[in-house]
This record gives sequence, structure tokens and C-alpha cells, in this order.
Amino acid sequence: MKRRDFVHHICPSIVLVHLATAVNSCKDSAEPVENVPEAVIKEFASVSTRYNDEGYYMQGNLVYVNLSNSNLSKLVNNLGYANLLDAGVLLLRTDVNTLKAFSNCCPHQGNRAAWVFEKGRFKCENHGNSYNVNEINTVSCASNSISGGLIRFELIQYKNYIRVSKL
Ligand code: FES
Repeated sequence: MKRRDFVHHICPSIVLVHLATAVNSCKDSAEPVENVPEAVIKEFASVSTRYNDEGYYMQGNLVYVNLSNSNLSKLVNNLGYANLLDAGVLLLRTDVNTLKAFSNCCPHQGNRAAWVFEKGRFKCENHGNSYNVNEINTVSCASNSISGGLIRFELIQYKNYIRVSKL
């Protein structure tokens, strides 16, 4: 087959395969910002006046977060993290489509206030141990673990609102 024929016949197929792979990759990494259940949208409406000054509201094991709050708005589009200290939640944006929630209880001795995110891991500066955010070998709060992964919570996002389930 001549080079020109190859380019015309084979390359479009290759491009389509790569495009489909890219789309599927995006789907895999994206949090469920679409197809949010109607009941959850109603929950967001019902708590809309209850957010504290730091931008969140706790109800049992659920934490509702308003990313429009000035303390958290950096996470709308930018990579970064926030520690919702009293809610027990670390929020982490790893890319434009992915926002994750983790327990902020250190698996070593349970400190919640000394987190920094560096080199793709959360590090607790209390004793310097760091933990992965990939759910590999997750370790429990205050279990004297000096390695492993932080416990991840389910997160549903609708527009600038987030619901974290600490179950
Ligand atoms: S309490 Fe976090 S490293 Fe020790």
C-alpha cells in the first residue's frame, strides 16, 4: 500500500481509537458531576443556607460543601487541597475533572491538622509520615500505620456543591 493510501485509510481509524480511549480515560477519572440523583439535588437545596463560614455543613455522616466559599473556591478549577478540619475531610483536586475526598485522620496517631500535599501524597507533618491517595493498602485512622493509603470517601458533585459520605 502506498504511503498516501495508508494515511487516508488507516490513520482515521487510529485517530478514532485514540479519541475513544481519551474519552474513556476522562470518564474513568471524572467524578460524577453528571447524572446526579434528583434526591441529592434536593438535599443541596435544603442545606443551601446552612454552610458555615468555612463553606461546609455536617449532617450525620454527610458533609455538604459549597465550593463558592472564598476558602474553597481555589478548588473549583485549580489543583490543590483543603482540610475541612472539624468535618474530618481532606479535599483534593488532582486534575480538572477529578475531585477526591479522604479522611483527615492520620493513620499513624490520628492527628488531623498537619497535612500537606507534596509529591502526589499527603504528608502529616506531625511525625513526617506520608500516605498515598490511590486507595492502595488503605490504613485506618490512628492505627499506628506509618505507610499505606488514606481512606477515601464517596463524593458527589453538582455544580459547585459537593456531598461527601463518610461511611
Ligand atoms: S500523627 Fe501523623 S505522622 Fe504521626
